[in-house]
Amino acid sequence: MNTPLLYASLCCPLDGQPLQQQANSWRCTQGHSFDTASQGYVNLLPVQKKRTLDPGDSNEMVGARRRFLASGVYAPLAQQLAACIQEANLPPSATCLDAGCGEGYYLRYCQAHLSSRSLRWVGLDISKWAVLAAAKKNGDMRWLVGSNANLPLLPSTVDYALCMFGFPVYEEFARVLKPEGTLLMVEAGPEHLRELREIIYPELKGKSDQWQVPDGFVLQQRQRLQCQVTLNSPELIADLLLMTPHLYRASAAGLARAQGLTHLVVSVDVEFRTLRRRP
Ligand SMILES: C[S@@+](CC[C@H](N)C(=O)[O-])C[C@H]1O[C@@H](n2cnc3c(N)ncnc32)[C@H](O)[C@@H]1O
Ligand SMILES: [Zn+2]
Repeated sequence: MNTPLLYASLCCPLDGQPLQQQANSWRCTQGHSFDTASQGYVNLLPVQKKRTLDPGDSNEMVGARRRFLASGVYAPLAQQLAACIQEANLPPSATCLDAGCGEGYYLRYCQAHLSSRSLRWVGLDISKWAVLAAAKKNGDMRWLVGSNANLPLLPSTVDYALCMFGFPVYEEFARVLKPEGTLLMVEAGPEHLRELREIIYPELKGKSDQWQVPDGFVLQQRQRLQCQVTLNSPELIADLLLMTPHLYRASAAGLARAQGLTHLVVSVDVEFRTLRRRP
């Protein structure tokens, strides 16, 4: 069973009060209570804070992402991520948050490959399907259903936050990070999946590089990972489409072309931006 220590920094998503563990639930002083699910995760996304009934990635998208990542095609990204966290030289027992963790592939990779085994990992996602899949795969970490827009964590309690192909809410990241804590933003670059996009869209729009350092942060490092990977089955290509917004944006003719493929070499182009929270 997980150590409750790590949850010392949890707060109530309704009023921001600290949550205390009582048997299998977490309670604030106002009497709000959140149960630990039998799979070990805690749902800290109350219905009042949901915009839709089933927010975030669907069960189907989570399944596609899980199969795609399990194939190892994105292992170079996981390696680069682990290298970035290693470089941060975090103290023992540092708390690391994956904000929008999906089904937990990258956290599992970091836990298995980083030399510091004492880091306290917290994976959070707005999709209960993603968190359920993550908790089933690894009960040693803390998994939370919650939103980046209203992180259920007390201020200044996180040493390292990661937002990988996710939905950044910088004010919230700045609030929960300790002064001088680190934020790693991982985002697709202009060449990412170009070959697939050329197949499914009639015309490719250029992606402008207008990213600006968010308020409250200082840019420390930008690293770009570029390589080519081979998708060697129609199922893998279908899963990649299903786990991205491309499936919904592509034209019918484009999708039909992609569905006819048995093999595709695609470019990976991903930027890793390390930011430090201003003290
Ligand atoms: C493109 S996926 C990336 C998942 C994971 N980081 C990865 O790279 O495998 C984006 C994830 O963000 C989640 N998400 C969307 N809105 C969110 C929010 N407001 N707060 C937290 N997670 C959110 C989705 O459910 C989905 O799992
Ligand atoms: Zn409360």
